[in-house]
Amino acid sequence: MTADAAGLTGPRFPLSGIALGCDYNPEQWPEQVWEQDVELMREAGVGFVTVGVFSWALLQPDPETFNFDWLDRILDLLHANGIAVDLATATASPPAWLARAHPETLIVDHAGNRLWPGSRQNFCPSSAVFRAAALTLVEALATRYAGHPALAMWHVSNEIGCHNAHCYCDISAAAFRRWLQRRYPDLAALNNAWGTAFWSQWYHDWEEILPPRQTTTWANPTQQLDFARFSSDELLATFTAERDVLRRLSPGVPVTTNFMVMPNVTRMDYWQWAGEQDLISQDHYLDGRLEPVQAQPAELAFCADLTRGLAGGGPWFLMEHSTSAVNWQPVNLAKAPGQLLRNSLSHVARGADAVGFFQWRASAAGGEKFHSALVPHAGTDTKVWREVVELGGVLARVSEAAGTRTQAETAILFDWQAGWALNQGSHPTSLVEYADHPVAIHRALWRLGITVDGVRPGADLSGYRLVVVPTLYLADDACVARLRDFVEAGGQLVITFCSGLVDENDHIRLGGYPGAFRELLGLRSEEIFPLPADCSVHLASRDLAQNGTWTGSLWTELTHLDGAEAIARYLDGPVAGHPAITRNAVGAGAAWYVGTALDDAALTALLNRVAVAAHVQPPVPAPPGVEVVRRSGSQGSYLFVLNHGITATTILTHGYDLVSQKETTGSLTVEPGGSAVVREAY
Ligand code: GLA
Repeated sequence: MTADAAGLTGPRFPLSGIALGCDYNPEQWPEQVWEQDVELMREAGVGFVTVGVFSWALLQPDPETFNFDWLDRILDLLHANGIAVDLATATASPPAWLARAHPETLIVDHAGNRLWPGSRQNFCPSSAVFRAAALTLVEALATRYAGHPALAMWHVSNEIGCHNAHCYCDISAAAFRRWLQRRYPDLAALNNAWGTAFWSQWYHDWEEILPPRQTTTWANPTQQLDFARFSSDELLATFTAERDVLRRLSPGVPVTTNFMVMPNVTRMDYWQWAGEQDLISQDHYLDGRLEPVQAQPAELAFCADLTRGLAGGGPWFLMEHSTSAVNWQPVNLAKAPGQLLRNSLSHVARGADAVGFFQWRASAAGGEKFHSALVPHAGTDTKVWREVVELGGVLARVSEAAGTRTQAETAILFDWQAGWALNQGSHPTSLVEYADHPVAIHRALWRLGITVDGVRPGADLSGYRLVVVPTLYLADDACVARLRDFVEAGGQLVITFCSGLVDENDHIRLGGYPGAFRELLGLRSEEIFPLPADCSVHLASRDLAQNGTWTGSLWTELTHLDGAEAIARYLDGPVAGHPAITRNAVGAGAAWYVGTALDDAALTALLNRVAVAAHVQPPVPAPPGVEVVRRSGSQGSYLFVLNHGITATTILTHGYDLVSQKETTGSLTVEPGGSAVVREAY
């Protein structure tokens, strides 16, 4: 596919069909290899490549000299072979000459140490010197390549904020003060928001204010929260500055930067970033440290569903994932046969209209030389290469589904800012980590086969029947009002423990827990009784047949009902006899509260009950471990069936399977580890 032939599959979507692609770093290889590269790309059906991500030092060997010859040659070669280019602005890894001339562009950590060059992404986002140098390069690139026929989209920097999310240097301190002066009308407002009456922290002059650098004990919580907000905004400003140059010099070519929507990477507020992108692109890697292998498909689905939320439900671009192992975990698990296809199709099922990888050819040197790639060290007579070629064929056939939308009637509310506030510590327990709980709720819904959209606080929820709000420690009034509207209009809402405790300034909502949601939930908790790490409590219920078998952990509360009914009570533990799960009828709907961290089976059973009340169903019934998602649009509907289990499964469906290229007349059997994409017939 060439860029000049590219059609838009959605708003400003740069490629047609569902393209296969990857990061391509030809500068790591002698030029003789390039011809072989493009031949193999054609064999695999590679439709796009991201070029130049880490090439600043090669493109600009000194401040006055640009060297574009190699990039000219590779772009021409790619174009001649029908491969579209996602051209990186190369600003992700500043060159050594910049660090040498301007060490003040390097970031300073929490403890005041300036980090040395020698890796990547070492720049202070607030540095005007870095900004000017980066924009000089972007101007030069955009001027040279805006009209190149291979150019399909621009890729600003790379995974912005991955290694340099927070810089505590003096330049950042001054920028932080300017940001605060825009947020607060005066120092009195800041003092009030930061609660500086506590521990004699009043500020009498803006110049007294610093980033929350390492100090004796807890830094001011609102100072920390505002610094996290500032840092996300400051990094976003590095993106918008480059984007604006590209829009001026290369109008009409979409601009993106690859997000890292993964549970453990939470330092950018992507709800704020999403509206600044021409299209949403995302990198995802399975992380063996976070999830047991059998839970990984659900974690992937969570990230993809949240990415679709960032894309407003429209198509998004999977910029990177891996063909097999990564290099940055303690043990880097290789993918099992079939997993590459299942992982890729799960992203597609959840709205990705492009499937990219890091990277084309496994590096022979450097910090990522053991990271998998499309072309492994061992060459093309390999499982990975055969599966890459297979994927290229499948995506070519599944391309007819491009532009269709994933169907969901259930939403999970996710908020990076609430996560920052919760995870900073000095709370009833340090065992409640924010992202664990949205992921656990999503996993339970995944087991039930229910497709879920990720939504932002304050989102319009009128299109949903069921909404879950996990551990939303911080909630502002607008978010609370939207949730109330949703329930009154007939929605089923589930809120879990550790929610609504504070307002947007991280001030306790007084009068009992969970302050923001007390009224909506029809209850009041007077005291929190967190549980030690190895402790769980048992639940009893009149109307659920689970007496003593459901357990809770991490958190319990001494709860009094104020209009709600108790669905389950604690059998034992510090608040034995008190409500653990409640339901409050409000308007045409109901608000449920789960006051403890339910075990997985209990969470699944409870959510099943609420889903029944909400009339939410899976697209097609399937056994646990079989992922079934529907995408539909004007051209028809497509059922994605991914069997992550160890036994064959049979699904009731009628149509044509684009993977096996066979008609399915009434039922379809998918082998263990297998995948199907059925164009449904009605
Ligand atoms: C991210 C980066 C790549 C590479 C991979 C490794 O996706 O964008 O440059 O470091 O991680 O997994």
